Amino acid sequence: MVSRLRIFGVATATLTALAGVAGYAGTAADGHRAAWRLDYVRPTTIPFPETNPYSPAKAELGRKLFFDPILSGDGSRACVTCHRPDLAWADGRARASTRMGGDMDLHTPTLLNVAWQDGPLGWDGKFPVLEKVARAPISAPGNMNLKMRDAVSRLSADESYREGFAAAFGDPAVSEDRLEAALATYQRLIIAGKAPFDRWIGGEEGAISEPAKRGFDVFNGKGGCAGCHSGWSFTDNSFHDIGTATGTDLGRGRLMPRSVALQYAFKTPTLREIDQRTAYMHDGSVPTLEAVVDHYDKGGIDRPSRSRQIKPLNLSAREKADLLAFLATLSTEGDRDETAAVFPANAPTP
Ligand code: HEC
Ligand code: HEC
Repeated sequence: MVSRLRIFGVATATLTALAGVAGYAGTAADGHRAAWRLDYVRPTTIPFPETNPYSPAKAELGRKLFFDPILSGDGSRACVTCHRPDLAWADGRARASTRMGGDMDLHTPTLLNVAWQDGPLGWDGKFPVLEKVARAPISAPGNMNLKMRDAVSRLSADESYREGFAAAFGDPAVSEDRLEAALATYQRLIIAGKAPFDRWIGGEEGAISEPAKRGFDVFNGKGGCAGCHSGWSFTDNSFHDIGTATGTDLGRGRLMPRSVALQYAFKTPTLREIDQRTAYMHDGSVPTLEAVVDHYDKGGIDRPSRSRQIKPLNLSAREKADLLAFLATLSTEGDRDETAAVFPANAPTP
Protein backbone atom coordinates (compact mmCIF):
# COMPACT_ATOMS: atom_id res chain seq x y z
CA MET A 1 0.00 0.00 0.00
CA VAL A 2 1.11 3.53 -0.63
CA SER A 3 -0.02 6.78 0.86
CA ARG A 4 -0.70 9.50 -1.64
CA LEU A 5 0.02 13.16 -1.45
CA ARG A 6 -2.29 15.30 -3.51
CA ILE A 7 -0.46 17.39 -6.05
CA PHE A 8 -1.77 20.88 -5.46
CA GLY A 9 -4.15 22.18 -8.08
CA VAL A 10 -4.08 19.23 -10.44
CA ALA A 11 -7.51 17.77 -9.83
CA THR A 12 -9.14 20.46 -11.96
CA ALA A 13 -6.52 20.06 -14.69
CA THR A 14 -7.41 16.37 -14.98
CA LEU A 15 -11.09 17.14 -15.32
CA THR A 16 -10.31 19.59 -18.08
CA ALA A 17 -8.12 16.95 -19.71
CA LEU A 18 -10.93 14.43 -19.78
CA ALA A 19 -13.42 16.99 -21.02
CA GLY A 20 -10.95 17.88 -23.76
CA VAL A 21 -10.56 14.25 -24.78
CA ALA A 22 -14.31 13.70 -24.89
CA GLY A 23 -14.59 16.65 -27.24
CA TYR A 24 -12.15 15.37 -29.89
CA ALA A 25 -13.40 15.63 -33.44
CA GLY A 26 -13.83 12.11 -34.64
CA THR A 27 -12.39 11.00 -37.98
CA ALA A 28 -11.38 7.33 -38.08
CA ALA A 29 -7.66 8.22 -37.98
CA ASP A 30 -8.25 10.48 -34.98
CA GLY A 31 -10.03 7.66 -33.18
CA HIS A 32 -6.83 5.87 -32.22
CA ARG A 33 -5.19 9.12 -31.31
CA ALA A 34 -8.03 10.10 -28.98
CA ALA A 35 -7.92 6.71 -27.25
CA TRP A 36 -4.12 6.81 -26.95
CA ARG A 37 -4.25 10.26 -25.41
CA LEU A 38 -6.17 8.87 -22.45
CA ASP A 39 -3.13 6.82 -21.45
CA TYR A 40 -1.03 9.93 -20.75
CA VAL A 41 -3.06 11.94 -18.25
CA ARG A 42 -0.86 13.18 -15.41
CA PRO A 43 -1.59 11.67 -11.99
CA THR A 44 -2.94 13.91 -9.25
CA THR A 45 -1.04 12.38 -6.35
CA ILE A 46 2.55 11.40 -5.58
CA PRO A 47 2.85 7.83 -4.30
CA PHE A 48 4.76 7.44 -1.04
CA PRO A 49 5.28 4.03 0.59
CA GLU A 50 3.50 3.54 3.91
CA THR A 51 6.86 2.60 5.42
CA ASN A 52 8.23 6.06 4.55
CA PRO A 53 5.37 8.56 4.42
CA TYR A 54 5.80 12.16 3.28
CA SER A 55 6.40 14.97 5.71
CA PRO A 56 7.67 18.46 4.87
CA ALA A 57 10.43 18.21 7.52
CA LYS A 58 11.70 14.92 6.09
CA ALA A 59 11.68 16.29 2.54
CA GLU A 60 13.56 19.40 3.66
CA LEU A 61 16.17 17.27 5.43
CA GLY A 62 16.48 15.10 2.31
CA ARG A 63 16.94 18.20 0.16
CA LYS A 64 19.76 19.44 2.38
CA LEU A 65 21.48 16.03 2.27
CA PHE A 66 21.11 15.74 -1.51
CA PHE A 67 23.06 18.97 -2.07
CA ASP A 68 25.61 18.59 0.73
CA PRO A 69 29.18 17.38 0.02
CA ILE A 70 29.36 16.35 3.69
CA LEU A 71 28.33 12.93 2.32
CA SER A 72 31.59 12.48 0.42
CA GLY A 73 34.92 11.45 1.93
CA ASP A 74 36.90 14.49 0.81
CA GLY A 75 33.95 16.90 0.56
CA SER A 76 34.17 17.14 -3.22
CA ARG A 77 30.89 15.49 -4.24
CA ALA A 78 27.21 15.37 -3.44
CA CYS A 79 24.24 13.64 -5.07
CA VAL A 80 23.70 16.82 -7.07
CA THR A 81 27.16 16.49 -8.65
CA CYS A 82 25.63 13.93 -11.02
CA HIS A 83 21.88 14.47 -10.67
CA ARG A 84 21.72 18.16 -11.61
CA PRO A 85 18.43 20.05 -11.79
CA ASP A 86 19.75 22.21 -14.66
CA LEU A 87 20.68 19.08 -16.66
CA ALA A 88 17.32 17.34 -16.27
CA TRP A 89 18.58 15.59 -13.11
CA ALA A 90 21.41 13.81 -14.94
CA ASP A 91 24.99 15.00 -15.52
CA GLY A 92 25.30 15.82 -19.22
CA ARG A 93 27.93 13.12 -19.73
CA ALA A 94 27.92 9.85 -21.64
CA ARG A 95 29.09 7.99 -18.56
CA ALA A 96 29.36 9.15 -14.96
CA SER A 97 32.73 10.42 -13.77
CA THR A 98 34.77 8.65 -11.13
CA ARG A 99 36.38 10.55 -8.29
CA MET A 100 39.73 10.01 -10.01
CA GLY A 101 38.50 11.64 -13.22
CA GLY A 102 37.78 8.52 -15.27
CA ASP A 103 34.51 7.12 -16.62
CA MET A 104 32.23 4.70 -14.83
CA ASP A 105 30.63 1.93 -16.88
CA LEU A 106 27.18 3.47 -16.62
CA HIS A 107 25.35 6.57 -17.78
CA THR A 108 23.71 8.62 -15.02
CA PRO A 109 19.92 8.22 -15.24
CA THR A 110 17.62 11.17 -14.63
CA LEU A 111 15.77 11.20 -11.31
CA LEU A 112 12.61 12.69 -12.83
CA ASN A 113 9.45 10.85 -11.71
CA VAL A 114 11.44 8.40 -9.62
CA ALA A 115 8.45 8.26 -7.22
CA TRP A 116 6.50 6.40 -9.91
CA GLN A 117 9.13 3.71 -10.42
CA ASP A 118 7.29 0.90 -8.74
CA GLY A 119 9.85 -1.76 -9.68
CA PRO A 120 13.52 -2.13 -8.81
CA LEU A 121 15.88 0.78 -9.54
CA GLY A 122 19.19 1.04 -11.36
CA TRP A 123 19.77 0.09 -15.01
CA ASP A 124 19.84 -3.58 -14.06
CA GLY A 125 17.42 -3.39 -11.12
CA LYS A 126 20.11 -3.96 -8.50
CA PHE A 127 18.28 -1.68 -6.00
CA PRO A 128 15.00 -3.12 -4.65
CA VAL A 129 13.52 0.24 -3.54
CA LEU A 130 14.45 3.93 -3.59
CA GLU A 131 15.39 3.81 0.10
CA LYS A 132 18.13 1.30 -0.77
CA VAL A 133 19.93 3.32 -3.46
CA ALA A 134 21.83 6.05 -1.57
CA ARG A 135 24.33 3.87 0.24
CA ALA A 136 25.81 2.72 -3.11
CA PRO A 137 27.01 6.12 -4.41
CA ILE A 138 27.93 7.33 -0.91
CA SER A 139 30.13 4.37 -0.03
CA ALA A 140 31.58 3.49 -3.46
CA PRO A 141 35.36 4.21 -3.37
CA GLY A 142 35.24 5.56 -6.94
CA ASN A 143 32.32 7.83 -6.15
CA MET A 144 31.57 9.67 -2.89
CA ASN A 145 33.88 7.37 -0.93
CA LEU A 146 32.42 7.72 2.56
CA LYS A 147 31.64 4.74 4.79
CA MET A 148 28.04 4.83 5.97
CA ARG A 149 29.09 4.73 9.63
CA ASP A 150 31.32 7.75 9.02
CA ALA A 151 28.40 9.52 7.34
CA VAL A 152 26.30 8.85 10.43
CA SER A 153 28.96 10.15 12.81
CA ARG A 154 29.62 13.27 10.73
CA LEU A 155 25.93 14.16 10.68
CA SER A 156 25.56 13.37 14.39
CA ALA A 157 28.33 15.86 15.16
CA ASP A 158 26.54 18.65 13.25
CA GLU A 159 24.06 20.68 15.29
CA SER A 160 21.90 21.74 12.34
CA TYR A 161 21.60 18.14 11.14
CA ARG A 162 20.64 16.97 14.64
CA GLU A 163 17.87 19.55 14.53
CA GLY A 164 16.87 18.42 11.04
CA PHE A 165 16.66 14.77 12.07
CA ALA A 166 14.68 15.72 15.18
CA ALA A 167 12.18 17.68 13.09
CA ALA A 168 11.84 14.81 10.61
CA PHE A 169 11.83 11.81 12.93
CA GLY A 170 10.88 13.10 16.39
CA ASP A 171 14.33 12.75 17.98
CA PRO A 172 17.81 13.82 16.86
CA ALA A 173 19.29 10.33 16.42
CA VAL A 174 21.02 9.95 13.05
CA SER A 175 20.97 6.50 11.45
CA GLU A 176 21.59 5.03 8.04
CA ASP A 177 17.89 4.16 7.68
CA ARG A 178 16.81 7.71 8.49
CA LEU A 179 19.37 9.19 6.12
CA GLU A 180 18.04 6.98 3.31
CA ALA A 181 14.42 7.68 4.19
CA ALA A 182 14.95 11.45 4.06
CA LEU A 183 16.84 11.32 0.74
CA ALA A 184 14.12 9.13 -0.76
CA THR A 185 11.35 11.48 0.39
CA TYR A 186 13.07 14.44 -1.25
CA GLN A 187 13.68 12.53 -4.48
CA ARG A 188 10.00 11.60 -4.74
CA LEU A 189 9.33 15.32 -5.20
CA ILE A 190 11.49 15.44 -8.34
CA ILE A 191 8.64 15.48 -10.81
CA ALA A 192 8.67 16.23 -14.52
CA GLY A 193 7.25 19.74 -14.98
CA LYS A 194 4.38 20.39 -17.36
CA ALA A 195 5.61 20.18 -20.94
CA PRO A 196 3.77 21.20 -24.14
CA PHE A 197 2.78 17.52 -24.45
CA ASP A 198 0.91 17.71 -21.12
CA ARG A 199 -0.96 20.80 -22.26
CA TRP A 200 -1.98 18.93 -25.41
CA ILE A 201 -3.13 15.93 -23.37
CA GLY A 202 -5.03 18.45 -21.26
CA GLY A 203 -7.01 19.49 -24.33
CA GLU A 204 -5.01 22.47 -25.64
CA GLU A 205 -4.94 21.48 -29.31
CA GLY A 206 -2.40 24.10 -30.38
CA ALA A 207 0.14 23.18 -27.69
CA ILE A 208 2.10 20.90 -30.05
CA SER A 209 2.66 20.97 -33.82
CA GLU A 210 1.03 18.76 -36.45
CA PRO A 211 4.31 16.86 -37.09
CA ALA A 212 4.55 16.19 -33.33
CA LYS A 213 0.97 14.84 -33.34
CA ARG A 214 1.84 12.53 -36.22
CA GLY A 215 4.95 11.52 -34.28
CA PHE A 216 2.68 10.64 -31.33
CA ASP A 217 0.79 8.33 -33.72
CA VAL A 218 4.05 6.66 -34.83
CA PHE A 219 5.09 6.34 -31.17
CA ASN A 220 1.87 4.54 -30.26
CA GLY A 221 1.23 2.80 -33.58
CA LYS A 222 3.76 1.75 -36.20
CA GLY A 223 6.82 2.39 -33.98
CA GLY A 224 5.46 0.36 -31.04
CA CYS A 225 7.38 2.60 -28.63
CA ALA A 226 4.49 2.86 -26.14
CA GLY A 227 4.68 -0.91 -25.63
CA CYS A 228 7.54 -0.15 -23.23
CA HIS A 229 7.62 3.65 -22.86
CA SER A 230 4.08 3.65 -21.53
CA GLY A 231 2.00 6.14 -19.55
CA TRP A 232 2.67 9.75 -18.54
CA SER A 233 6.18 8.87 -17.31
CA PHE A 234 6.98 6.96 -20.53
CA THR A 235 8.22 3.79 -18.88
CA ASP A 236 6.83 0.39 -17.92
CA ASN A 237 9.51 0.22 -15.17
CA SER A 238 10.56 -3.08 -16.65
CA PHE A 239 13.66 -4.56 -18.31
CA HIS A 240 14.18 -5.39 -21.98
CA ASP A 241 16.93 -6.20 -24.43
CA ILE A 242 16.48 -3.72 -27.26
CA GLY A 243 19.54 -4.99 -29.10
CA THR A 244 22.07 -2.34 -28.03
CA ALA A 245 24.60 -3.68 -25.54
CA THR A 246 27.54 -5.38 -27.17
CA GLY A 247 30.05 -5.47 -24.35
CA THR A 248 30.22 -7.76 -21.36
CA ASP A 249 27.43 -6.04 -19.41
CA LEU A 250 24.52 -8.49 -19.23
CA GLY A 251 22.30 -5.96 -17.42
CA ARG A 252 19.47 -7.65 -15.56
CA GLY A 253 20.84 -10.96 -16.90
CA ARG A 254 23.70 -10.80 -14.40
CA LEU A 255 21.15 -11.00 -11.57
CA MET A 256 18.76 -13.34 -13.42
CA PRO A 257 21.11 -15.75 -15.23
CA ARG A 258 18.39 -18.31 -16.04
CA SER A 259 16.11 -15.96 -17.95
CA VAL A 260 16.82 -15.79 -21.68
CA ALA A 261 14.79 -12.58 -22.10
CA LEU A 262 16.74 -10.75 -19.39
CA GLN A 263 20.20 -11.16 -20.89
CA TYR A 264 21.32 -7.68 -22.05
CA ALA A 265 18.08 -6.30 -20.58
CA PHE A 266 18.13 -2.81 -19.07
CA LYS A 267 15.42 -0.72 -17.49
CA THR A 268 13.17 1.28 -19.79
CA PRO A 269 14.12 4.92 -19.07
CA THR A 270 11.60 7.71 -18.82
CA LEU A 271 11.54 9.92 -21.92
CA ARG A 272 10.75 13.10 -19.98
CA GLU A 273 13.16 15.94 -20.89
CA ILE A 274 14.75 13.53 -23.33
CA ASP A 275 16.12 16.13 -25.74
CA GLN A 276 17.65 17.98 -22.78
CA ARG A 277 19.80 14.98 -21.90
CA THR A 278 23.02 13.92 -23.57
CA ALA A 279 24.11 10.50 -24.79
CA TYR A 280 21.58 7.76 -24.48
CA MET A 281 21.23 4.20 -23.13
CA HIS A 282 22.70 2.58 -20.00
CA ASP A 283 26.25 3.07 -21.27
CA GLY A 284 25.75 6.38 -23.05
CA SER A 285 26.75 4.68 -26.29
CA VAL A 286 24.18 6.35 -28.55
CA PRO A 287 25.13 10.00 -29.00
CA THR A 288 21.95 11.60 -30.40
CA LEU A 289 18.20 11.11 -30.56
CA GLU A 290 18.46 10.77 -34.34
CA ALA A 291 20.77 7.82 -33.77
CA VAL A 292 18.32 6.34 -31.23
CA VAL A 293 15.50 6.49 -33.78
CA ASP A 294 17.76 4.93 -36.44
CA HIS A 295 18.60 2.14 -33.99
CA TYR A 296 14.91 1.29 -33.51
CA ASP A 297 14.28 1.59 -37.23
CA LYS A 298 16.95 -1.03 -37.95
CA GLY A 299 15.89 -3.20 -34.98
CA GLY A 300 19.25 -3.66 -33.25
CA ILE A 301 21.15 -6.88 -32.74
CA ASP A 302 19.03 -9.97 -33.45
CA ARG A 303 19.69 -12.48 -30.65
CA PRO A 304 17.63 -14.81 -28.42
CA SER A 305 17.22 -12.24 -25.66
CA ARG A 306 16.04 -9.39 -27.89
CA SER A 307 12.47 -8.31 -27.12
CA ARG A 308 9.92 -9.52 -29.63
CA GLN A 309 8.69 -5.94 -29.78
CA ILE A 310 11.98 -4.85 -31.37
CA LYS A 311 12.17 -5.45 -35.11
CA PRO A 312 12.94 -3.44 -38.24
CA LEU A 313 10.28 -0.72 -38.53
CA ASN A 314 10.84 0.63 -42.05
CA LEU A 315 10.08 4.18 -41.01
CA SER A 316 10.07 6.84 -43.72
CA ALA A 317 12.21 9.96 -43.36
CA ARG A 318 9.05 11.88 -42.52
CA GLU A 319 7.99 9.40 -39.83
CA LYS A 320 11.43 9.65 -38.22
CA ALA A 321 11.26 13.45 -38.27
CA ASP A 322 7.74 13.32 -36.80
CA LEU A 323 8.91 11.01 -34.01
CA LEU A 324 11.69 13.45 -33.14
CA ALA A 325 9.23 16.36 -33.17
CA PHE A 326 7.03 14.42 -30.78
CA LEU A 327 9.92 13.58 -28.41
CA ALA A 328 10.79 17.29 -28.23
CA THR A 329 7.33 18.04 -26.78
CA LEU A 330 8.25 16.07 -23.64
CA SER A 331 10.58 18.83 -22.41
CA THR A 332 9.43 21.75 -20.31
CA GLU A 333 10.03 25.29 -21.47
CA GLY A 334 11.87 27.95 -19.52
CA ASP A 335 14.24 27.66 -16.59
CA ARG A 336 15.41 24.29 -15.42
CA ASP A 337 16.48 25.21 -11.95
CA GLU A 338 15.75 23.22 -8.86
CA THR A 339 12.62 25.08 -7.86
CA ALA A 340 11.11 24.71 -11.32
CA ALA A 341 11.79 21.01 -11.48
CA VAL A 342 11.27 19.89 -7.91
CA PHE A 343 8.45 22.09 -6.91
CA PRO A 344 6.61 22.87 -10.13
CA ALA A 345 3.37 24.78 -9.92
CA ASN A 346 1.50 21.53 -9.41
CA ALA A 347 3.68 20.07 -6.66
CA PRO A 348 2.81 20.01 -2.96
CA THR A 349 3.69 23.16 -1.10
CA PRO A 350 6.37 21.81 1.21
C1 HEC B 1 29.23 10.07 -9.96
C2 HEC B 1 27.86 10.39 -10.27
C3 HEC B 1 26.77 10.04 -9.28
C4 HEC B 1 26.59 10.50 -7.99
C5 HEC B 1 27.50 11.40 -7.19
C6 HEC B 1 25.32 9.97 -7.56
N1 HEC B 1 24.76 9.22 -8.55
FE1 HEC B 1 22.92 8.39 -8.52
N2 HEC B 1 23.36 7.38 -10.20
C7 HEC B 1 24.52 7.50 -10.94
C8 HEC B 1 24.63 6.40 -11.87
C9 HEC B 1 25.74 6.15 -12.87
C10 HEC B 1 23.49 5.59 -11.67
C11 HEC B 1 23.14 4.26 -12.33
C12 HEC B 1 23.56 3.16 -11.35
C13 HEC B 1 23.12 1.77 -11.73
O1 HEC B 1 22.23 1.62 -12.55
O2 HEC B 1 23.67 0.82 -11.15
C14 HEC B 1 22.70 6.25 -10.63
C15 HEC B 1 21.46 5.81 -10.19
C16 HEC B 1 20.71 6.45 -9.22
C17 HEC B 1 19.34 6.13 -8.90
C18 HEC B 1 18.46 5.11 -9.60
C19 HEC B 1 17.61 5.81 -10.64
C20 HEC B 1 16.85 4.88 -11.53
O3 HEC B 1 16.11 5.38 -12.37
O4 HEC B 1 16.96 3.66 -11.43
C21 HEC B 1 18.98 6.93 -7.85
C22 HEC B 1 17.63 6.99 -7.15
C23 HEC B 1 20.13 7.74 -7.52
N3 HEC B 1 21.16 7.44 -8.39
C24 HEC B 1 20.19 8.64 -6.46
C25 HEC B 1 21.40 9.18 -6.02
C26 HEC B 1 21.57 9.79 -4.70
C27 HEC B 1 20.49 9.93 -3.65
C28 HEC B 1 22.87 10.19 -4.64
C29 HEC B 1 23.59 10.82 -3.47
C30 HEC B 1 23.60 10.05 -2.24
C31 HEC B 1 23.49 9.87 -5.93
N4 HEC B 1 22.57 9.24 -6.71
C32 HEC B 1 24.79 10.19 -6.29
C33 HEC B 1 25.44 8.51 -10.78
C34 HEC B 1 25.62 9.22 -9.60
C1 HEC C 1 10.87 -3.56 -25.86
C2 HEC C 1 10.74 -2.32 -25.11
C3 HEC C 1 11.04 -1.01 -25.84
C4 HEC C 1 10.49 -0.52 -26.99
C5 HEC C 1 9.44 -1.17 -27.87
C6 HEC C 1 11.08 0.79 -27.22
N1 HEC C 1 11.97 1.07 -26.20
FE1 HEC C 1 13.11 2.73 -26.06
N2 HEC C 1 14.13 1.89 -24.53
C7 HEC C 1 13.86 0.66 -23.96
C8 HEC C 1 14.94 0.29 -23.08
C9 HEC C 1 15.02 -0.98 -22.24
C10 HEC C 1 15.89 1.34 -23.15
C11 HEC C 1 17.26 1.38 -22.43
C12 HEC C 1 18.22 0.45 -23.19
C13 HEC C 1 19.66 0.53 -22.71
O1 HEC C 1 19.94 1.26 -21.78
O2 HEC C 1 20.51 -0.14 -23.29
C14 HEC C 1 15.34 2.32 -24.07
C15 HEC C 1 15.96 3.54 -24.38
C16 HEC C 1 15.38 4.52 -25.16
C17 HEC C 1 15.88 5.86 -25.30
C18 HEC C 1 17.08 6.44 -24.56
C19 HEC C 1 16.66 6.96 -23.21
C20 HEC C 1 17.76 7.35 -22.28
O3 HEC C 1 17.47 8.02 -21.28
O4 HEC C 1 18.92 6.99 -22.53
C21 HEC C 1 15.02 6.53 -26.14
C22 HEC C 1 15.13 7.98 -26.56
C23 HEC C 1 14.02 5.58 -26.55
N3 HEC C 1 14.26 4.37 -25.93
C24 HEC C 1 12.99 5.87 -27.42
C25 HEC C 1 12.19 4.88 -28.00
C26 HEC C 1 11.39 5.06 -29.19
C27 HEC C 1 11.27 6.35 -29.95
C28 HEC C 1 10.81 3.84 -29.46
C29 HEC C 1 9.94 3.46 -30.64
C30 HEC C 1 10.53 3.63 -31.94
C31 HEC C 1 11.23 2.92 -28.40
N4 HEC C 1 12.08 3.58 -27.56
C32 HEC C 1 10.80 1.61 -28.28
C33 HEC C 1 12.75 -0.10 -24.20
C34 HEC C 1 11.98 -0.01 -25.35
